[in-house]
Amino acid sequence: MRRLFLTFVALVAASVVMAAECVIIPRPASYEPQKGKCVLTPKSVVYAADKSLVRPATMFVSYVKAENGLDLAVVESAPKGKGAISLYLDKGLAEEGYLLEVTKAGVIIKGGSAKAVFYGLQSLRQVVLNAKHKGVKIAIDCMTVKDKPHFGYRGGMLDVCRHFFNVEEVKKFIDILAMHKLNRFHWHLTEDQGWRIEIKSHPELTKIGSVRKETAVYNTNPKSGRTQIVGYDGKPYGGFFTQDEVRDIVRYAAERYIEVIPEIDMPGHMVAALATYPELGCTKGPYEVRKKWGIAKDVLCAGRETTYAFIEDVLDEVVALFPSKYIHIGGDECPKHRWKECPDCQKRIKEEGLKDEHELQSYFMKRIEKYLNTKHGRSIIGWDEILEGGVSKTATVMAWRGAKRGVVAAKLGNKVIMTPTHFCYLDFANTTNREKNGEPICGGRNGKRPLTLRKVYSFDPYADLTTDEQRCIVGVQGNLWTEYIADFDHAQRMTLPRIAAIAEVGWSYGNKSYDDFSRRMHLLRKLYDKCGYKYAPYFFNGIE
Ligand code: ACM
Ligand code: ZN
Repeated sequence: MRRLFLTFVALVAASVVMAAECVIIPRPASYEPQKGKCVLTPKSVVYAADKSLVRPATMFVSYVKAENGLDLAVVESAPKGKGAISLYLDKGLAEEGYLLEVTKAGVIIKGGSAKAVFYGLQSLRQVVLNAKHKGVKIAIDCMTVKDKPHFGYRGGMLDVCRHFFNVEEVKKFIDILAMHKLNRFHWHLTEDQGWRIEIKSHPELTKIGSVRKETAVYNTNPKSGRTQIVGYDGKPYGGFFTQDEVRDIVRYAAERYIEVIPEIDMPGHMVAALATYPELGCTKGPYEVRKKWGIAKDVLCAGRETTYAFIEDVLDEVVALFPSKYIHIGGDECPKHRWKECPDCQKRIKEEGLKDEHELQSYFMKRIEKYLNTKHGRSIIGWDEILEGGVSKTATVMAWRGAKRGVVAAKLGNKVIMTPTHFCYLDFANTTNREKNGEPICGGRNGKRPLTLRKVYSFDPYADLTTDEQRCIVGVQGNLWTEYIADFDHAQRMTLPRIAAIAEVGWSYGNKSYDDFSRRMHLLRKLYDKCGYKYAPYFFNGIE
């Protein structure tokens, strides 16, 4: 009897081991392991049942070849025999929802759109890498995955102004977003420290505005722990994207089902434009492209018509380059010192019956929003400062100074993208003891506000909102500001693995578990290695 019992225990234990655990990040809505394995061989094909699926199929084939050495063919007629990966559209599924079924006979992915099938293939990509490899044969566990994201907007932002990243690097950033099923690339293109997009009607912007004379050098103040300037490097620093390069990047992102949202930050963070055209500033200059970080007092003059004409010229070209529904028009960190002293700004305040400079900023943002709405049929996103002095109902608010700003916007009924510093700022330290762990200087008060993987993962975009107000939260985004990030290896180490936590917050709301995420994160690391991505080592070494 005892022997029988032990045999029973052994069998149960074996079946527990047999039931393969989910390896996918972000965590799917539903995952059921099934018995058996499906064997992929060099004879396996990827069948695209619809023309629109050839592209995701081809993309998947290139991943599997690079990461597993298995060279699969894409076919457009239904395959016979075992081990095929068959892709179908199924309009009964959600637009971003997919079904992934692995049986002994083969793999089937059905998606509500080509984008959804692409997400199914991103999941399969992780499954394949973690499967048993025997030479050129890969035995993947049978499973049923039914999946769709919780939030429709899942973004990553890259600042290419404080430091410049070239076309290949930006594409790699986009690849990283796509791997994590993020669907928006927010491209921060203009700043005090550099104007980075070619505008043909104003070619001087990228001649003068794209280059700063030199850059401040920072270290850590031993007393305060904050960053401090210790000198200037004496080296001109510049870079910009031609319109052809912009189109190339927008196309590259679209092939990966990512919409690129350009940001032209106004009326603050405009010193590079002021240096180019001093007449756009209240004092009319002279100005120089800013050499240090922080907030500049010099901003666009909101009184004179010439400012609005300039912005409209710029936006006409931006809109032609970016087919996105949204155009981000900034609105953050615009000090009011110059407007208080400027006769033109004061005249505008009087003429428009505005109460103060905050209402002048609101006038500015609303006027630009109206221009984009009526002339170009686009919607705007603005940083949460657009709430000050009044916001239009149709603006989408990007909450950055704490989720509570998003709560305020949602209570007003505005759409909100949550990207609070407390959870989503990827330029902040990865660990709670930056210096001890050898992390370089960084944002978030130089490590005083650490953002561990666990902390990012803990973000609840719905906290403090009623069910009705929750409907205003359209999604989440991780932001990579690059004041202290001078090269792309460093940029990757700040992005990875924390963007995986952002992705799971956005995709798997209500279905999260940090313990389970940690287990899967160790598996996703293999994919980072295969792709040659750099990532922060701390989590993998058990350091928080
Ligand atoms: C911001 O971080 N200034 C939006
Ligand atoms: Zn002015």
